[in-house]
Amino acid sequence: MQELSSLVEQALAEVAECAGLAALDEVRVRWLGKKGTLTEQLKSLGGLPAAERPAAGQRINDAKARVQEAIEARREALTREEIERALAAGRIDVTLPGRGERRGGLHPVTKARLRIEALFQRAGFDVATGPEIEDDFHNFEALNFPPNHPARAMHDTFYFPDGKLLRTHTSPVQIRAMLERGAPLAVVAPGRVYRCDSDMTHSPMFHQIEGLKVGEAVSFANLKAMLHGFLQAFFEQDLAMRLRPSYFPFTEPSAEVDMSCVFCGGEGCRTCKHTGWLEIAGCGMVHPNVLMASGIDAERYSGYAFGMGIDRLAMLRYGVNDLRLFFENDLRFLEQFRTL
Ligand code: FA5
Ligand code: MG
Repeated sequence: MQELSSLVEQALAEVAECAGLAALDEVRVRWLGKKGTLTEQLKSLGGLPAAERPAAGQRINDAKARVQEAIEARREALTREEIERALAAGRIDVTLPGRGERRGGLHPVTKARLRIEALFQRAGFDVATGPEIEDDFHNFEALNFPPNHPARAMHDTFYFPDGKLLRTHTSPVQIRAMLERGAPLAVVAPGRVYRCDSDMTHSPMFHQIEGLKVGEAVSFANLKAMLHGFLQAFFEQDLAMRLRPSYFPFTEPSAEVDMSCVFCGGEGCRTCKHTGWLEIAGCGMVHPNVLMASGIDAERYSGYAFGMGIDRLAMLRYGVNDLRLFFENDLRFLEQFRTL
């Protein structure tokens, strides 16, 4: 008995000394394993008289249980210590600034579009959208381009084999908006448009924003005032604007809107093709045929419409002299607009 209790003392002392889980496991094997010191004690029971065996067996099992318990407790403590050590070593300081992190920004064309939308929303226009893949009806026919009309040749159209096309302007959204909303209405419709066309001021994919206002007494004077007010607000400066008589099948009368070239102050340069002016929009009074094709009473209502090049406006506002820079995605170029 004396021997058993001193064995237990010794085992408990070893358990307490263990500094790691591996050492603890060695101690467990040494004392409680198949050939462990306490397990061996049970084997010696055979040498005792039969009457003493149960009591002695009970004592040995109690001793084993005490050591087992001490091992479990130590294991738990060591595991907790290990977790705490790992947590302390791998702690992330979320207040440290990141490494190599660079702030993104909106594309200058997107910035220009948002700015234009906001200015027109302030003037009571809703923002409308339409599909980039259009049909002949919305892109041409309802806009008063009859089949084989020569004005169709003004647009170098990308066609799909099934006769659908990539919209050549945002004007088809006029038709969609009138068919959906009826009169009166005031919408702007920004989006991508496509034409087979490419140079310093033309790109095969570019952005327009359509404007359409239909009401009982909408006049050309209202159109001119709206465009002029918009340009003053957009550029935050007094830039010259002029209307040039023009032709669109869907407006009558029609005009083109030019702005004084900001690169040369109107002197004439490469960007404005030495004219001193940059064309930024087409506009006019909605043709009665277009109102009728869209289910609107052309006797009662009149309307004005305009279609502006968003990329052109972005060029002028940000002083970019080649439209193609907007679409090359060169970060050295784009980064300059991050904070504008
Ligand atoms: C039109 O597209 C008419 N739908 C505009 C319109 C709407 C007239 C409503 C009347 C009423 P135009 O082809 O001129 O018109 O284009 C309008 C504007 O888009 C131009 O003034 C120009 O700013 C821009 N634009 C035209 N082609 C390109 C191009 N290839 N790249 C960049 N901008 C362009
Ligand atoms: Mg034009």
